[in-house]
Amino acid sequence: RKKIIITIDGWSSCGKSTLAKQLAKELNYVYIDSGAMYRAITLYFLRNHVDWTDTQEVQKALEDIQLEFRYNENSLQSEMYLNDENVEYVIRDLVVAEKVSEIAAIKDVRTFAVNQQQEMGRKKGIVMDGRDIGTVVFPKAELKIFMTADNKIRVERRFKELFEKNPNITIEEVKNNLEMRDYIDSHREVSPLRQADDARVLDNSKIGMDEQLKLALSWVHELI
Ligand code: C5P
Repeated sequence: RKKIIITIDGWSSCGKSTLAKQLAKELNYVYIDSGAMYRAITLYFLRNHVDWTDTQEVQKALEDIQLEFRYNENSLQSEMYLNDENVEYVIRDLVVAEKVSEIAAIKDVRTFAVNQQQEMGRKKGIVMDGRDIGTVVFPKAELKIFMTADNKIRVERRFKELFEKNPNITIEEVKNNLEMRDYIDSHREVSPLRQADDARVLDNSKIGMDEQLKLALSWVHELI
C-alpha cells in the first residue's frame, strides 16, 4: 500500500491529537505533535529568560535547542525531548500555554520548527497535527483534515484534562487561554491558522471518537 501524508489542523482543543493518534495507530504511521515543538521552545525561552522580542537573542537561543521525539514503550506514545530531557508533561502546563502563541508567531521560531517537520515527513507514512501543516509544512499532502468543535465543548475538554493535573485551575482561565491562542494563531503574519482550500472539514462536536476515526479512515481509503 502506498504511504501518504495526513495533516490535521484546526482550533485549539478540538481533538486533533486524539484523531491523529488513532489514525497513526490504525495505519501504522508515525504521529507527530507539532504543537509540542512550539511548546518545548517556549519552555526553553521561559526557563532561560530569553527576550523573544530581540531577534538576535532568539536566533542565538534556537542554536542551543535540540528537539527530538522519542518513543515510550510504556505509554506507547512518542514524547517530546528538549536537549535530552523529557518535557512531554511540563509543556502541557498553562504557564507554557499562556506564552506559546506569542512565541510561535516569531518568524525564526517557525522556520526552525518547520524545517524539522518537513524532514520528518520525507518518507511519508506520517500524521502531523498543528495549525499550518496543510497550508505551509506539507502543502502537497494527500489528505488534509481541518477540525472544529463547539467552543463550549472545547473548553470543557481542555478543562478536564488540565484539572486532573492541577485542581486549582478554573474554567475561566482555560476559556481565556483557548480564546487568546485561537485569536493570535489565526491573526499572526507568518503562517496563520487557516483552512487549506483542499482540506476536508471534520466537526466533532456531536460525533464520538469511534465515529470520527471511521470518517477519517474512509477518506484515507479513497486515496490508498
Ligand atoms: O497543538 P497545541 O495546542 O499543543 O499547540 C500549542 C500552540 O503552538 C498553538 O496554540 C500555536 O500557537 C502553536 N502552534 C503553531 N503551529 C503549529 C502547531 C502549534 O503555531 N503547527
